[in-house]
Amino acid sequence: MSKIRVLTVFGTRPEAIKMAPLVKEFEKHNDIFKSIVCVSAQHRQMLDQVLKLFDIKPDFDLNIMKPNQDLWTITAEVLMLIKDVIEECKPDIVLVHGDTTTSMAAALSAFYARVPVGHVEAGLRTFDKYYPFPEEINRVFADAVCTYHFAPTDTSVENLIKSAIPQTHIYKTGNTVIDALLHTVENNSADLSYIGLNPALKTILLTSHRRENFGEPIRNICHAILELVEKNKDIQVVYPVHLNPNVQQPVHEILGGKERIHLIEPMEYAPFSTLMKQAHIILTDSGGVQEEAPSLGKPVLVLRSTTERPEAVEYGTVKLVGTDKNRIVEETQKLLDDEAEYKKMSESINPYGDGLASKRIAEIIKKEFETKLNQE
Ligand code: UD1
Ligand code: UDP
Repeated sequence: MSKIRVLTVFGTRPEAIKMAPLVKEFEKHNDIFKSIVCVSAQHRQMLDQVLKLFDIKPDFDLNIMKPNQDLWTITAEVLMLIKDVIEECKPDIVLVHGDTTTSMAAALSAFYARVPVGHVEAGLRTFDKYYPFPEEINRVFADAVCTYHFAPTDTSVENLIKSAIPQTHIYKTGNTVIDALLHTVENNSADLSYIGLNPALKTILLTSHRRENFGEPIRNICHAILELVEKNKDIQVVYPVHLNPNVQQPVHEILGGKERIHLIEPMEYAPFSTLMKQAHIILTDSGGVQEEAPSLGKPVLVLRSTTERPEAVEYGTVKLVGTDKNRIVEETQKLLDDEAEYKKMSESINPYGDGLASKRIAEIIKKEFETKLNQE
């Protein structure tokens, strides 16, 4: 019988981390699947770090990233270029991930070509179209044009049902980020000595990059960090700074050269996972980090007012603190001072997956397409 031709499209660091285990699964079962990988390279350096770690060599590289790119350009380029990729490789199914502009535009492009699309990490919602911007609308859009919906949790399944997605094509699979994390933590050891951390101090790991935090919010976050480091001589902060110029500029201006604050380049995924394990507290506005940290037993303070990942908030290991300077200082200080509060938030839980999401997704695609291809 013919192999199932799966075109997997991604463009940014988090998509690459979360799609890599799935690509590996297709490659492992190459008697069933013909895996074709297309990267938009919406991110360049941060994407390449992940491709190298998972040893993925894309069949198509659209290489679209430009300094300070905008949403119109990413959308238009991906929409047009994926059309050509689909015409050339004739996939049976296209897979996209989550809520980036690459994913939304690739899903639309495949829909226009009448190729069925599978959405990995489907059904996440805040139900507020501007938070996060533009991700909430990107994922609603992707869900609307996709045929197969691979939802990570019960909440995301419910959100899809509320969005009138046919239940016959909603599959609860877990999140592939846990597959990536478990694989990486098990198979890699990382040397963090280059950061120059003092082992006698508690480490606070910070990441922030969201568009809605550009400007005043990111400046507030930086000022909160300055105050915390000033007040607590036993802490140090590590911030792998996202390459977006809207992040680089204020962060280096406010935190650059300050004692016990380490501003470093975006880290490769393996050392970053090791750093998450070593950190005392994590402050972040990242989606992926919110999913990973609870399984490593790390308390997370989320620098946003809403989240599409309510599960760990409900368990109590993740707390939304927003971007008000005083609130960030207060909540972090509470975790530093109050042992009981720290213990409560550092329980290891795993609401996002068990490491088998990619296997489930591949199995579902196999079942769906094997019969169809055999009939042809
Ligand atoms: C994108 C996604 C966001 C996701 C984030 C993950 C959209 C609209 N945004 O936001 O959902 O959470 O990635 O990190 O899809 N840059 C580099 N090198 C890189 C990556 C970025 O120089 O490897 C710089 C470039 O100047 C680029 C800018 O960052 O133009 C912005 O990148 P872009 O992908 O548009 O936005 P992100 O903020 O990274
Ligand atoms: N990450 C990484 N290196 C870093 C910072 C983050 O490998 O320096 C990983 C992190 O573990 C998670 C993913 O990148 O898997 C999250 O990416 P990001 O925060 O850029 O995007 P989001 O998840 O918010 O879309």
